[in-house]
Amino acid sequence: MHEIMPGRKRGIFFVVAVCAVFMQAGLWAGRKQTQNNFPDNTLVSSSKELIPFMKLDARPKIKEHPIPHLMAEAENNFRKLLSRQSKTLEEAVREYRRRYRRDPPRGFDHWWQFVKDNDVLMIDEYDAIAEDLAPFWELPADEVRRRADVAGSLPSIDLVRVRNGNATAVNVRTGSTEVSARARGFLSMIEKFQDRLPDVDFPINSMAEGRILVPWEQRMKLNESGKSFHSRILVHILTAIQGVSPHNSVGLYTSFRASSTTQRQTNQLLAQTHEFSFPESVSGNYSFCENPWAHYNQGHFFSDWRTVSVLFPVFSPAKASGYLDIRIPSHYYYAQTRRYTYGWDPVNLELKPTDHMETAWEQKSDKIFWRGASTGGGSSPPGFSANYQRHRFVRMASDDSTSNRTVVFADPPGSNNYVYVQVPTSALNEEMMDVAFVKVVDSFNYPGGIGALIRDHRFDDGGVNLGDHWRHKYLVDVDGMGYSGRFFSFLESDSAVMKATVYREFFEEWIQPWLHYIPLSPSYQEIYNIHSFFSGATRSALAAANSTALRLPPVKRRPVDGDRRLRRIARAGKQWKRTLGRRVDMEAYVYRLVLEYVRVSSEDREEWNFVL
Ligand SMILES: *[C@@H]1O[C@H](CO)[C@@H](O)[C@H](O)[C@H]1NC(C)=O
Ligand SMILES: *[C@@H]1O[C@H](CO)[C@@H](O)[C@H](O)[C@H]1NC(C)=O
Ligand SMILES: *[C@@H]1O[C@H](CO)[C@@H](O)[C@H](O)[C@H]1NC(C)=O
Ligand SMILES: *[C@@H]1O[C@H](CO)[C@@H](O)[C@H](O)[C@H]1NC(C)=O
Ligand SMILES: *[C@@H]1O[C@H](CO)[C@@H](O)[C@H](O)[C@H]1NC(C)=O
Repeated sequence: MHEIMPGRKRGIFFVVAVCAVFMQAGLWAGRKQTQNNFPDNTLVSSSKELIPFMKLDARPKIKEHPIPHLMAEAENNFRKLLSRQSKTLEEAVREYRRRYRRDPPRGFDHWWQFVKDNDVLMIDEYDAIAEDLAPFWELPADEVRRRADVAGSLPSIDLVRVRNGNATAVNVRTGSTEVSARARGFLSMIEKFQDRLPDVDFPINSMAEGRILVPWEQRMKLNESGKSFHSRILVHILTAIQGVSPHNSVGLYTSFRASSTTQRQTNQLLAQTHEFSFPESVSGNYSFCENPWAHYNQGHFFSDWRTVSVLFPVFSPAKASGYLDIRIPSHYYYAQTRRYTYGWDPVNLELKPTDHMETAWEQKSDKIFWRGASTGGGSSPPGFSANYQRHRFVRMASDDSTSNRTVVFADPPGSNNYVYVQVPTSALNEEMMDVAFVKVVDSFNYPGGIGALIRDHRFDDGGVNLGDHWRHKYLVDVDGMGYSGRFFSFLESDSAVMKATVYREFFEEWIQPWLHYIPLSPSYQEIYNIHSFFSGATRSALAAANSTALRLPPVKRRPVDGDRRLRRIARAGKQWKRTLGRRVDMEAYVYRLVLEYVRVSSEDREEWNFVL
């Protein structure tokens, strides 16, 4: 245990030191707002080296907007991905061997039959499974099983057990079959093929958040320590069972911060924070190790839940990068419920192809819509929630200060004469945003308490149903306490989804940003330019440019194909959900995962190979 303590103490010290710097930086950003082009610098490092860069007038002359290029490339990539999937079992085996340098697991032929029978389109894209199970290949199989056994008795973990081809779920600590919705979800995902499985245990995380966070130093030590391995593990296991005190992962991550920011990173940072720069993919793949300052802007890093600092096989719906949980589809996506399923008719308990609250595209509002509760993280250490992803977004979208934002658009619309204009944030928010909290949660965690939380944020007392979203063309999906369980229903609707997340889920290789949804950076700063591209420069932007388009009637001010492109994203998202995000696609993923897991936890792994 003494191995862990010094690291954690250092972590806490570092947090305190950074807090001080960060708060000063916050003030600095506030004062500077009126003087530079980066008014919303909450995501910019406080590092002094960066300040000169931020003052640079980085305004490349542009001939064409980057978004059509991103969309074309996305479509091209996705088409290639689909068309290169193996067509026969032989091809699939060959591809498997090429990627992972071993044979597929036993049962692969039945899995193949399953995917063929169910028109599953993804045959080869399961690198997520290989990645998640890789650490367990480094352990002996009996150790994997032993750890699964221990994991099953940890707090907030249920066990799904297969015995004689029959799966059941149990809470080992209480002996009860009253288990979490996540365990029940997993149980139903394996129902169709449980009779083909040997006796095996799956520890299922009952919480939304990743659990397994093994400090880097320990991972390295584990890897190299051959013999002394077991005794050390025992100590860690004991620590884990007794409950590592609720601890935040900020310290853990920041301990390997890059202290000297390289030129490359600085440039990356500049690109990431510029208002006219669009990320190619969702921020789930964002490197928090290279950008430690970004931790303070995500509730994820202030978690109250107990992370476990030992490598246990734990199956979770999502994980931030660095976590070692084994990903499975979320039960929110798999189950059919009023709150999370598009087209679900809760009265007749049936799925309708079109949700009864769906709205015709032409009748949808052009505003960017988000509603949710003020969740978004824990409170360890407390006092940071104002910077959490949801709070930042609500404040940004309702900022009525006199600051300006940079909007870039073709003037006149449809031309390739791109102009940069400074537009008052308050006007843009008025024209583009409809973002509010609907529920106060964890207000004790907000500096100043509930009064301050309500004063600082827009609250819409009307509440929101899932179906209310369909009245808007743009739906924003941001993380809450964990990943967002609404994503699949948003995709399936006729609206376009904009998504920011720090989590990685099972489908990351299957979905294509800029085709199926619009990826947002963790700062959201580019959102005004995204809207301007698809829906056209707003009145205030045209006024700032003294555009001749102001004299045109509003419908004519739009770029020719922006709205059409946005609708295409909405349709592609729906199509994705219906061809790749079906329940049976999730079953196919889980089927393959459990075959792999059975092998990695079997005494004779070779014997569990599938050879044609
Ligand atoms: C599986 O379990 C259920 C309930 O415990 C039982 O009714 C059924 O016979 C079992 N099936 C097999 C194949 O053991
Ligand atoms: C452990 O070592 C193996 C090879 O010796 C390497 O492939 C793997 O990446 C290492 N794991 C970690 C966590 O460093
Ligand atoms: C995530 O980043 C790694 C390297 O930084 C890259 O190899 C991988 O393809 C990325 N994944 C996605 C889904 O973008
Ligand atoms: C905003 O931009 C306008 C030019 O469009 C400029 O006149 C004004 O001073 C700017 N306001 C602030 C607060 O920077
Ligand atoms: C705006 O444009 C009109 C002509 O289209 C011009 O007469 C006027 O001077 C311009 N105003 C400014 C402030 O540039």
